[in-house]
Amino acid sequence: MTLFRLDASIREEGSASREIADIVVDEWLSVHPGDAIERRHIGIDVLPADAWPHAVSAMYLPESERSPEQKSAVALAAALLDELLNADAIVLAVPLYNFGVSQHMKTWIDLIITDPRAGAGAPPVLAGKNVVLCTVRGGAYGAGTPREGWDHSTSYLRRILADVWGAELTVVEREFTLVGVNPALDSFTDAAAAMHQEARAAAQQAGKALAVVG
Ligand SMILES: Cc1cc2nc3c(=O)[nH]c(=O)nc-3n(C[C@H](O)[C@H](O)[C@H](O)COP(=O)(O)O)c2cc1C
Repeated sequence: MTLFRLDASIREEGSASREIADIVVDEWLSVHPGDAIERRHIGIDVLPADAWPHAVSAMYLPESERSPEQKSAVALAAALLDELLNADAIVLAVPLYNFGVSQHMKTWIDLIITDPRAGAGAPPVLAGKNVVLCTVRGGAYGAGTPREGWDHSTSYLRRILADVWGAELTVVEREFTLVGVNPALDSFTDAAAAMHQEARAAAQQAGKALAVVG
């Protein structure tokens, strides 16, 4: 079986989203040892920012009239969608950046939606497929906090993955990853440690479930 893993963090060392996704992948591999893990690191191997406009304009032209840039953007969008379609299960590791998703994550989603197989009127591309979204935030945005509602990433990702693409979605969240990094957050050390442990446990549980259902 094939697990597809996407990482959207712009760093590799010390990445909290990768740590959580690693736990899910380890649980998967304990049930499917030796199986393929297909990976894409959109925070490091960045998708070209102009691919999306080229792919969109290509939609209105017959193939024979498309520019080399448009052809290449259409091929990239197809390759990104193929990675999802070919996977038996999917893990996404996505940090919160500037209260939303990064340009890299948005480009990835936007490009996939340009493919006719994922566009308006097409059946949901992830219908019935199990997806674990591992998302992390430097701050905390829970009910009653000063910035409640400022996380504009997680709800958007739920909307796309579950509502638009039809995935069977599990979300594992970790907050306060900047505690211990930003001294202004030192008073939250205990709360952050508890959140870290809870996220690790939730990732383990999500990974076990993913490995069983595939
Ligand atoms: C450029 C940048 C913008 C960020 N914006 C936010 C933000 O708006 N809210 C927040 O809670 N954390 C923010 N963070 C913190 C990250 O969400 C946090 O460091 C997270 O752990 C990053 O994921 P990673 O550990 O997998 O790299 C930001 C970090 C960077 C580098």
